[in-house]
Amino acid sequence: MVQNILSAKTPEGQTHRGHLRALREDTITYIEHLARQGDLLRISFGLLGSAYFVNSPDLVQEILLKQARKFHKPFIVKYTAKEFFGENLFTSDDELWQVLRAAIQPAFHAQRLNAYASIMVDYTKAMISQWQPGQVIDIPQAMMDLTLGITTKALFGQDLRNDVAGQAIIRFIELFSQRLSGFPVPAWLPIPSNWEIKRQIAIIDRHLSPLIAERHQSFAEHDDVLSMLIQAQAADTTGLLTNQQIKNEVLNLFAAGYEVTAHTLAFTLYLISQHPDVEARLLEEIDRVVGQRAITIPDLEQMPYLEMVLKESMRLLPVTTLLSRQAVESVVLKGGYTLPKNSVVLFAPWTLHRCSEYFPNPLSFDPERFHPDCKDKIPKFAYLPFSAGPRICIGNAFAMMQMRINLATILQDYRLTVAPEYQFEPFYSFNTRPKNGLPMTVEVR
Ligand code: HEM
Repeated sequence: MVQNILSAKTPEGQTHRGHLRALREDTITYIEHLARQGDLLRISFGLLGSAYFVNSPDLVQEILLKQARKFHKPFIVKYTAKEFFGENLFTSDDELWQVLRAAIQPAFHAQRLNAYASIMVDYTKAMISQWQPGQVIDIPQAMMDLTLGITTKALFGQDLRNDVAGQAIIRFIELFSQRLSGFPVPAWLPIPSNWEIKRQIAIIDRHLSPLIAERHQSFAEHDDVLSMLIQAQAADTTGLLTNQQIKNEVLNLFAAGYEVTAHTLAFTLYLISQHPDVEARLLEEIDRVVGQRAITIPDLEQMPYLEMVLKESMRLLPVTTLLSRQAVESVVLKGGYTLPKNSVVLFAPWTLHRCSEYFPNPLSFDPERFHPDCKDKIPKFAYLPFSAGPRICIGNAFAMMQMRINLATILQDYRLTVAPEYQFEPFYSFNTRPKNGLPMTVEVR
């Protein structure tokens, strides 16, 4: 029974100060340090109040599922979004969230997803057709270019990569992620980062407004998310699906999707390169099932090992490392501890995925953990690359399909290796990425 609660200590042993600095300076080391101290900790941020760190599947299940209604997205996330453009599916709660989720969900149904497969194959083939044997590629950059192309083409009918709006989206997401991992800064403050965020939003807006206006005339001819949002707007009785809201959702879907998918792909390619036994088995599966032709959706069903490798990569290096909620009322957790109203709660796929109780020998990369015969041994709330409960990632099936297609198509033709002196170091800034980039050399198979 958790009636009492431990006070978290910083790596320097402090309980009442130093947490904010530790969290901001090296988030991963800090949360790993917290996870060693207990399943439920109170973190004192001094004058800024307290937050809670939760590191048990049962307690996370309370937050994400059993008592999900009592937890909203934290104030800082909502504030930062509202200051610049308003709410979206990622930041909203209650009625607005329900309206948006219902409007967007159909775009991610299985039959729709299948229609995106050929875009995923074609774009990956186009990327690797530019690669030369021996060339060193900055993999996160290449994957971001690929995923931005696929996301914009599949979901909105246009490849925005070489467009000024595409470049503005990339820059905006970078600035916005930095903002979310820092202090709340009012948008009216005349500081360069505020000017730049507003400038990027204005560029994106100039592109999206005519696109949305044109789609109002022609949505029946298209089969993408934008058309679906416009159809949902026509049927909306709440008045919440305004044109501004649709613009926010378009931007949100770019922002939520492309960078995390790209870094997950980059981490997976890195892990494969470090485990020749896994690589050999994966290549054997790809050669046997797909050979040299273009991969299809039915092929994916025949490739369990590819899925196991990807799932294990998302366990060991989850890009969405740290998640948060804020209690909108006081909440009694399983075990009896009461979280006061407004408490910010942090929970980390990164540390849950490294609990040896659920993942023996947690630092080893072992796709067998996700063998179809073993996967029921993992408690549902111990493995959260896409979160869980009603707010599970809306793009999870899209991302899983895309990443398997990307990986299989790349590995049909190429092996990627890193230089022996390369030091892999994960770095957290809202999401996790490789601190020093990830240069990999292309070798023809
Ligand atoms: C490997 C790729 C991806 C990972 C690891 C990932 C992970 C996540 C996680 C952990 C959440 C929950 C965040 C929270 O509750 O605070 C989330 C939510 C979300 N994701 Fe993803 N995501 C991925 C790809 C995508 C894609 C491709 C899209 C869309 C094109 C997308 C759109 C969203 C949206 C809109 C939400 C908010 C859902 C809601 O609150 O109802 N994600 N994602």
